[in-house]
Amino acid sequence: MDIKAVIFDLDGVIVTTDDCHYTAWKKMADDEGIYFDRKINERLRGVSRMQSLEIVLEKSDKAYTEQEKLALAAKKNAYYVDLIQKLTPHDVLGGVMKNLETLKERGIKIAIGSSSKNTPIILNRIGLADYFDAVSDGNNIKNSKPDPEVFLKAAEMLNIAPENCMIVEDADAGIEAGKRAGMKTFALGNATGADFYAKSLENVDLYKLVSQ
Ligand code: BG6
Ligand code: MG
Repeated sequence: MDIKAVIFDLDGVIVTTDDCHYTAWKKMADDEGIYFDRKINERLRGVSRMQSLEIVLEKSDKAYTEQEKLALAAKKNAYYVDLIQKLTPHDVLGGVMKNLETLKERGIKIAIGSSSKNTPIILNRIGLADYFDAVSDGNNIKNSKPDPEVFLKAAEMLNIAPENCMIVEDADAGIEAGKRAGMKTFALGNATGADFYAKSLENVDLYKLVSQ
């Protein structure tokens, strides 16, 4: 396959933050009297904060002004940031460290490609702030997944051509972004449409796969 780099999504791939996102949106929606459930939450995976808010507001009859929308997004983020303070290295998902260590040892570059502006806080909390060869996140992109920008920026930081990269994602929006970037795609959990698939990274050897 000639893969020289593996780019990992953060939320739901490296760490369990997907549940913190759900809890924070649910709290904000309850405050506003807006219906929200886990099924709607699935549509927010990989999608930016403001685009996620638009999806949450589909269940509301009220017409919110731009200023009110910014306030709601800030409120959700305050709930979320509060929740992620409790993260520790134990919250890194099963199979992740083993795969990262092996890839690193064998000279395959590793990067983060996440839509989240909270990526630096999370990497810090889980003890991986200086671990990756590149971190591309919500702070350095204009367009969120399914746009390929976040993954293309990661490849650029690594100085590796997109066709030599593979992305690992738990969201359909992320798989589409990887495909549009011209990269190989690996889906986890409920994500579909990728070149490769596993329920989790627990029993997966990414190095073995990319060195085939
Ligand atoms: C993605 C999550 O990683 O980041 C989305 O899957 C989230 O659910 C997005 O909306 C933006 O996150 P943040 O931390 O910038 O609000
Ligand atoms: Mg994700």
